[in-house]
Amino acid sequence: RDDASFYYGTFPPGFSWGVGSSAYQTEGAWDQDGKGPSIWDTFTHRQKGRVFMNQTADSSCESYYKTQDDIKLLKELNVSHYRISISWPRLIPTGVKADYVNGKGVKFYSDFINTLLENDITPIVTLYHWDLPQMLQVKFGGWQNVSMVTYFNDYANLCFEKFGDQVKHWITFSDPWSVAKEGYETGRHAPGLKLRGTGAYTAAHHIIKSHAKVWHSYDKIWRKKQQGLVGISLTCNWGEPVDITNPKDIEAAERYMQFCLGWFANPICAGDYPQVMKDYIGRKSTEQGLGMSRLPVFSIHEKNYIKGTFDFLGLGHFTTRYITEKNHPARQGPSYQNDRDIAELVDPNWSDLGCNWPHLVPWGFRRLLNFVQTQYGNPLVYVTENGVSEKLNHIQLCDEWRIQYLKGYINEMLKAIKDGVNVKGYTSWSLLDKFEWENGYSYRYGFFYVEFNNRNKPRYPKASVQYYKNIISANGFPNPIEVERWYSIATETCSTTNQILAAEPLLHHMQMVTEIVVPTVCTLCILLSAVLLTFLLRRQS
Ligand SMILES: *[C@@H]1O[C@H](CO)[C@@H](O)[C@H](O)[C@H]1NC(C)=O
Ligand SMILES: *[C@@H]1O[C@H](CO)[C@@H](O)[C@H](O)[C@H]1NC(C)=O
Repeated sequence: RDDASFYYGTFPPGFSWGVGSSAYQTEGAWDQDGKGPSIWDTFTHRQKGRVFMNQTADSSCESYYKTQDDIKLLKELNVSHYRISISWPRLIPTGVKADYVNGKGVKFYSDFINTLLENDITPIVTLYHWDLPQMLQVKFGGWQNVSMVTYFNDYANLCFEKFGDQVKHWITFSDPWSVAKEGYETGRHAPGLKLRGTGAYTAAHHIIKSHAKVWHSYDKIWRKKQQGLVGISLTCNWGEPVDITNPKDIEAAERYMQFCLGWFANPICAGDYPQVMKDYIGRKSTEQGLGMSRLPVFSIHEKNYIKGTFDFLGLGHFTTRYITEKNHPARQGPSYQNDRDIAELVDPNWSDLGCNWPHLVPWGFRRLLNFVQTQYGNPLVYVTENGVSEKLNHIQLCDEWRIQYLKGYINEMLKAIKDGVNVKGYTSWSLLDKFEWENGYSYRYGFFYVEFNNRNKPRYPKASVQYYKNIISANGFPNPIEVERWYSIATETCSTTNQILAAEPLLHHMQMVTEIVVPTVCTLCILLSAVLLTFLLRRQS
């Protein structure tokens, strides 16, 4: 295995380098210009105790007001694409297109997309990055209800109509695994439901149908005129067998992958859920005395309709787990966890001092890419999410950890391309520090540090900006001397910026002098002069 050896070389010509973000995590302006509430607005406002420090994304990075600033940062990174998402309730406040469309929302995204194009940045646009209109949750139970297929399709067609002349890369859903499992099984995400053993499967079933419907809409109505691509973004860890000589561990690791990636990828590629999911969930359901499997079934007509509904596969990836078999007795009650019969472990050598997430395991990325190639017929792949966060309370712009992560993961992707995997683009996650769902602002994924306590939400470049920029301009890793030089330059620059920021408290102090002390003193002076003048005038008369 050549996992440990670094591969010097370049990416194929035209390889697309980018960064990503999503609407709810960055925009702020949650109730401005006619936007309706989303399930995440409601979740963060009402379900106190679910999100770190009860934080919300009401203002977040204020990217809604700072598109020009953000485009400057993209230019600084020299990326060729920017992955964004459209907020469904900003466009359609109730979620139902027949109710009304918010013109200000249309204008916002239209202007934003046009400005990106004027700056030679290709927009890759996600339709659903978790912010379902709250009304759809209240009235229909959100993704538990098959009626979402129609509402989502109406919304998607509106997006194709308004933005499809500009946007050529569409992602229907971002990480539907999290939407289904954390939203409807564990309740860690909005809408916070804990329908164990059924909720996630039902939600996923409707998400897959919605995806297929939207792909067909594009294919039938828009493709000829707009010539774009429609895909989905699936996020998964790599699951490695604990003992690669033990068939039970190998099967367990395979199950781990099928219950994550295969759950969505298999229907979209082959028309149905992975056999191993049908077997395990079916057997457990029987043992639990149920008359039918908790995993919903696609009809023959649906299978044919869903099969092959992707022009590219978006892939999100963060880290790796070791997997071993663990029998969970069915009588413990139905749950996704119980159905899989596995246990996840991490190698103690991957220890990270608790400051960073996730574990740095670059070789898992190459294996995942190889898995995608063999399982799904060597599809066109765009990496839509890959990155690392720091868990820090203080300002730290020297993010050596992120540099190590970029270097390792991008290099393994390069090896995968040499293996023959058809990867055409890479999206590093993410442009800015932003609201990280249940972790609030405690995890920082950004190339740019955002000072959330400051009303103006200023952004500062971390060292990794320099490093990623160099990978982009070299289109890979030319030679050891050059790559080592990038590292030194990046870390030198950041220590200077760090010192400037360390002087920030002084700056704040000076601001206070000009904003508060000066006006107060002036007012006092005027008052005093007035009193004196009165006194003098009285004496004279
Ligand atoms: C979050 O809200 C819950 C419920 O109101 C409260 O008990 C908890 O102290 C809050 N936490 C913080 C950090 O404010
Ligand atoms: C789904 O929505 C329909 C209306 O379209 C409603 O009649 C039905 O009760 C909903 N089902 C669930 C499970 O909420």
